[in-house]
Amino acid sequence: MYEYNRTYIGDCDLVMEKMINDGLKFDLILTDPPYNLNKDFGNKSDSLDKEEFLLINEERIKKCRNLLDSNGSLIWFGIHNYIGYLQVIMYELGLYYRAMNIWHYENGFSRSKKVPATQYEPFLWFSKSNKKWTYNADDVRVPYKSTERLKSPVYYKDKNGNKKVWKPNPNGALRGDVWKYPTLAGKAFEKERTSHPTQKPESLITEIIKAFCPKNKEGKYEGTILDPFHGSGTVGVCCENLNKEGHLIKWIGIELEETWVNIGNKRLIDLD
Ligand SMILES: C[S@@+](CC[C@H](N)C(=O)[O-])C[C@H]1O[C@@H](n2cnc3c(N)ncnc32)[C@H](O)[C@@H]1O
Repeated sequence: MYEYNRTYIGDCDLVMEKMINDGLKFDLILTDPPYNLNKDFGNKSDSLDKEEFLLINEERIKKCRNLLDSNGSLIWFGIHNYIGYLQVIMYELGLYYRAMNIWHYENGFSRSKKVPATQYEPFLWFSKSNKKWTYNADDVRVPYKSTERLKSPVYYKDKNGNKKVWKPNPNGALRGDVWKYPTLAGKAFEKERTSHPTQKPESLITEIIKAFCPKNKEGKYEGTILDPFHGSGTVGVCCENLNKEGHLIKWIGIELEETWVNIGNKRLIDLD
């Protein structure tokens, strides 16, 4: 009934309601909703008063919860001003806290001398179950910061109490909850950037998909991903880039504005 690997134009509040009634489920809902910072998306969705913003988000998070598979995860981008309220809503709706991640960048613009420049945006990870979820730790390893530990042996005790020498993992260290990726500001990202005011970098979104999308026995990503606030289509573009490498991700985007859907569709065509 639903086609995957495409974006639906429409109001996600209505589309998600229909998806729930039709029994659809997703392994991962990865989304970057309006932060309520007065950005111009071509609609009023980013300029609500606080009460309305919180009420509408409570309904949306409830819908996301109902659309998650039993082992599914919700990744929800937010901003300092409001993320605390949204986190409380997620607890109250019975989702399980897994991590508050930080997208850290140093190439943003500073607009004020009255407060420190913003260098991060949080993204919350909650799971549907408190027992089972997907996190592909080995797929998102990061380079070791220092090789100091390699100069003289470091010992630890394994679970049986035996003394062992620590050896670095050839694929790097386990990543932390601070995800360092530049924003799309400046000449370096001219090619990737579209006219969408809050487009997320493909580098960051691809890494998040690798971390949280379920895999099949052959080690390929094979899961269903929903982004109800698809904007310029970054989640879809990143899924398709991975699918070109042989992965089998089924994704659906929802976006209110046709302008952004068209831009997202063009980005997909340009991948070929
Ligand atoms: C923060 S942006 C997402 C940007 C996206 N991550 C990207 O990389 O381009 C939020 C998007 O949600 C859309 N939006 C707002 N309200 C919506 C609704 N009720 N249903 C679907 N989309 C909505 C806005 O038009 C905007 O494009």
